[in-house]
Amino acid sequence: MRAVTIKEFGGPEVLTVEDVARPEPLPTEVLVRVHAAGVNPVDWKTRLGHGMAGLQTFPLIVGWDVSGVVEEAGFGVTTLRPGDEVYGMPWFPRAAGGYAEYVTAPARQWARKPATVDHVHAAAVPLAALTAWQALVDTAQVRAGQRVLITAAAGGVGHFAVQFARHLGARVIATASAPRHPWLKELGAEQTIDYTATRVEDAAADVDVVIDLVGDASPRTLKVLRPGGLLVGVPGGVSPELAEAGAAAGVRTTPFLVEPDGPALATIAGLIDAGQVAVEVEETFPLERAAAAHLRGEAGRTRGKLVLTT
Ligand SMILES: NC(=O)c1ccc[n+]([C@@H]2O[C@H](COP(=O)([O-])OP(=O)(O)OC[C@H]3O[C@@H](n4cnc5c(N)ncnc54)[C@H](OP(=O)(O)O)[C@@H]3O)[C@@H](O)[C@H]2O)c1
Repeated sequence: MRAVTIKEFGGPEVLTVEDVARPEPLPTEVLVRVHAAGVNPVDWKTRLGHGMAGLQTFPLIVGWDVSGVVEEAGFGVTTLRPGDEVYGMPWFPRAAGGYAEYVTAPARQWARKPATVDHVHAAAVPLAALTAWQALVDTAQVRAGQRVLITAAAGGVGHFAVQFARHLGARVIATASAPRHPWLKELGAEQTIDYTATRVEDAAADVDVVIDLVGDASPRTLKVLRPGGLLVGVPGGVSPELAEAGAAAGVRTTPFLVEPDGPALATIAGLIDAGQVAVEVEETFPLERAAAAHLRGEAGRTRGKLVLTT
């Protein structure tokens, strides 16, 4: 099968398409023919030797987000069968080998693909949407009426977080550059802050939950939280200084790492199919142009997601 492999950490030029052996499903696993693979910041962070690099071995096939069709079900699998359309973020933070024509993974780390979107849009969902869902629902336990601040709201995770927080009944404050504000309001943001012109702590207050997707939260940022409020530090966790400042200010801070979660993906597929959550794909690239996709993503300006097609 064709796969984008890397043999050393480095710039986008280390991503090369090669012919490699097709994986075989073990008992409880399915083999999935990949139609599209989502691109995420952790992909290029790992390629550079950061991110999840310490857990990987060479040759490495990067990528965790996949949408495709079950080709073969291993012994013992009763929930999926050949021909089923599935999507998932299997194996994370171990390698999943998503930038390839085939992936094997435990059956229960997949869910049925949302029926109303194509594979490109389905592949844009798993890692970003699971991050938003797990951070808001499992970690912060957001309730109706709470005020939720989401930074980098126009990106992959952010645009799902805005919609999920709104779905949970929260009042959403979103940071993004000004041209993205009308779109974020359509997605459910009540207030938008142009981070290029205004400091967030000058524009937001009495916030229950901050979902920090920029990774630049400082003790000043904590001033937006009401007493007992929570900051979820999504990129890079929470520094000891920030945790200390939070404790001194009477607010909570927590690091966060997304986990494979088939049942949550099934719930998310239901929201997409019910028309309650939209999936934004800015651009698609063929597998051969994975390096161009990484260059584009690393610029940090993506609206929604970038996706590779096989
Ligand atoms: N811990 C975990 O489990 C986990 C899971 C997923 C993601 N992450 C991390 O979370 C971060 C976000 O991921 P992502 O996939 O959403 O990234 P992304 O899609 O690449 O984010 C791009 C967006 O960031 C916005 N942005 C850039 N700088 C900003 C700033 N200073 N303030 C506000 N918005 C800004 C841009 O908006 P404008 O164009 O409007 O500037 C753009 O829309 C990444 O660092 C990623 O590695 C961690």
